[in-house]
This record gives sequence, structure tokens and C-alpha cells, in this order.
Amino acid sequence: MNYTSIIKKFEKLYLKEPRVFRAPGRINLIGEHTDYNDGLVLPAAIDREIVYALAPNGTDTCRVYAMDLGEEDEINLNQIKVSEKRWNNYLIGVVAVLENRGIKIGGFDCVFSGNIPIGGGLSSSAALECGLGVGLNELFDLKLDQREIAFIAQQAEHEYAGVLCGIMDQFASMFGKENHVFRLDCRSLEIDYFPFKLDDLKIILFDTGVSHQLASSEYNKRRAECEQGVSFLQKNGHDDVSSLRDVSQEKLLRYKDELDATVLKRCLYVIEENNRVVLACKKLEEKDFEGFGALMYASHNGLSQEYEVSCTELDFLVDYTKDKENVLGARMMGGGFGGCTINLVKEEGIEEFIKKIESAYLKETGFQLKTFVTEIKEGAGKVPS
Ligand code: GLA
Repeated sequence: MNYTSIIKKFEKLYLKEPRVFRAPGRINLIGEHTDYNDGLVLPAAIDREIVYALAPNGTDTCRVYAMDLGEEDEINLNQIKVSEKRWNNYLIGVVAVLENRGIKIGGFDCVFSGNIPIGGGLSSSAALECGLGVGLNELFDLKLDQREIAFIAQQAEHEYAGVLCGIMDQFASMFGKENHVFRLDCRSLEIDYFPFKLDDLKIILFDTGVSHQLASSEYNKRRAECEQGVSFLQKNGHDDVSSLRDVSQEKLLRYKDELDATVLKRCLYVIEENNRVVLACKKLEEKDFEGFGALMYASHNGLSQEYEVSCTELDFLVDYTKDKENVLGARMMGGGFGGCTINLVKEEGIEEFIKKIESAYLKETGFQLKTFVTEIKEGAGKVPS
């Protein structure tokens, strides 16, 4: 990102010097739709980010400027309300959650810009919310720790974007570490970092260009189906079950004839996916990337067939890679219904492979595939001046 142009824009608009903060998007290697089931995920922060230039302005009004759109808007701290400018509602969400939690901030001036593809499943919204959280924390000396900022960002997403997301995206943006993935236990919030700097392997994202029309309603529906599974077990005397994390396949299958078939399928997927994360971490420790890749394919299969959050474009991209020698693993990533696939690919012959998949995708769908070769970077923070 070009920090200088953002700073210059800020100085031109508000005639003072800003402080600069950044928050990255994320990938998730495996562990999809497990976070809101108290499960395990394996994300990392990437080299795509949102950058904020910020300074307090001593008033009760926040002046905000979205540099990539060339649009400005305001937030009145005495009367916080939803804006017609969609992008500003993510910022307003953070400000409102702080206010509701009794955390006092003052007015501020803001310019932000980013290079995370929107709707690509790379958590541009979590980065937008976490970046502002990190910035306001420092500007107004709020003394929030990283976890608190992540939860504030998540609440903003729930209340202002209407997606009842888990905590993975916000934690990935806040706790990412360069050249590492991390296993997050979404129940205990414990984090274990694993080195992930692979000289001859690359992580490639293929963006279908299909955006999440269905995504938020279907996402919330999946979440409700998982909760239905949990409450069914509770009603059947399993008081020890507070989430799918507490349920084994065997326990669930005891009720296979009584449970709603869809709910059964969804819950089985979540249990299997948690197991896959555990196995995938073992494979990382053993440096068995072939084995790791096979688990990615199995994850995709579950997401597509059992959890039913994939789409024809994502399935096409994953299927295409299956007989390609230099691809170790591929799967859809994030909420689903569009966005990106994540691919673990050997570096040798990579350009040829990208060319071929791009032209196959164009032929199949009429869309130009967008390809990102990603690097794993550090989580959110202040940009040194
Ligand atoms: C979205 C949500 C996350 C997570 C994923 C699916 O990215 O924001 O909390 O549930 O979908 O794994």
C-alpha cells in the first residue's frame, strides 16, 4: 500500500499530520464454519490491508473520507445513526459499539484506503473494523487489549452489517504473525502459531468474481441449524453439550433417525472439520504438505456436499486442480457462495498453471479469474512514522 499518498490526502483535507494504522485481510487454511461452533480454525493475516490515517479533531463530529471511492461522510457522536453510505456503516458500527460499552472517544478526522478485494471472502470488513479499533484505541488512549478490539469489531459486524459471524476474521486480523499460520481455539481463545514459510510452495487465491448475494442470510441460517442440533441434544438429556465442540460423531449418530436430516448433515460436517484441523496441524508439524493438501480437499468436499455453502464456480475451480500435479490442496474459503478458493501450489510451473486455470475459468463461466499469490504478514498495528 502507498502510505504516503494516504497521508498526503489527509494533510490536504484536514491541514494536520495524522497517525497511521493498518489492519490486514486474512486467509484460512482449514477450519471453515467452525468458529461460531466453539471450534478450531487455522487462519493467517495476509499482504492485503486497510490503512487508516487518523487524528483527533477536538469536536463531536468525525469526518471520514473513503479514498478509494472519493467519498466523504460524517459521524455525529451525539446522534449516531446508520448512513446511506454503506462503507461508513462499518466505521459507525465500531464507534457505536464503543459508545454502547461506555467507552468514550472524541471526534476525529479520517482518511482510509485498502487493497483487499471486497466480497472476496478475505475479510475486508473485519479489517475495516479492526483497523479503526486499533487507531481509536491509540488516539484516545482507551487501553483496550487486542482481544477486546477484536470483539468490538465482531459486535460491529453483528449489529451494523447483519452477519452473525464468529471470531476468526477479527482474530486473524489482530493476531496474525509474519510467515505463520495459527490455530485458534474459538472456545478458549488459545492461539498456537505454526511456521508457514515455504520456499517451494505458494498460497494462491483465485477469486471467482461471484459476490455473496446469498451469503449473509444463508450464513445466519447455517448458524441456526448448528444451534438446533445442540438444543436437540440438550433436550435429549445431554446437559454437558453447550456447543458442537462437545459432540462426537458417535454421539450425534445415535440420533440419526430422529434429527432433522439437514441439521444432522450440518452438524456432522462441523464435527469432521474440527477433526481435520487437528490432523492438519499434525501434518504441519511433520512437514507433510501432501497430507495437509488432502485435508483441504476433504474440507471442500464437506463444505460443498454437507454444509452446502459452495457454488458452481468454486466447485469448478477446486475440481480443476484435482489432477494437476503441482497443486497439493484446494478448497473454498470463508463464508462461501462466491469469493475465493485457497490453493497450496508448488512453485515450479506455477505461471503455466495460472494461465491454464484462468483460461479454463473464462471458458466455463465467462468471467475473468482474479489471481492473488499471497504472503503471510503481521497482524494489525500502528505504522511507524
Ligand atoms: C466468515 C465469518 C467467519 C467464519 C467464516 C467461515 O468469514 O466472518 O467468522 O465463520 O465465514 O468459516
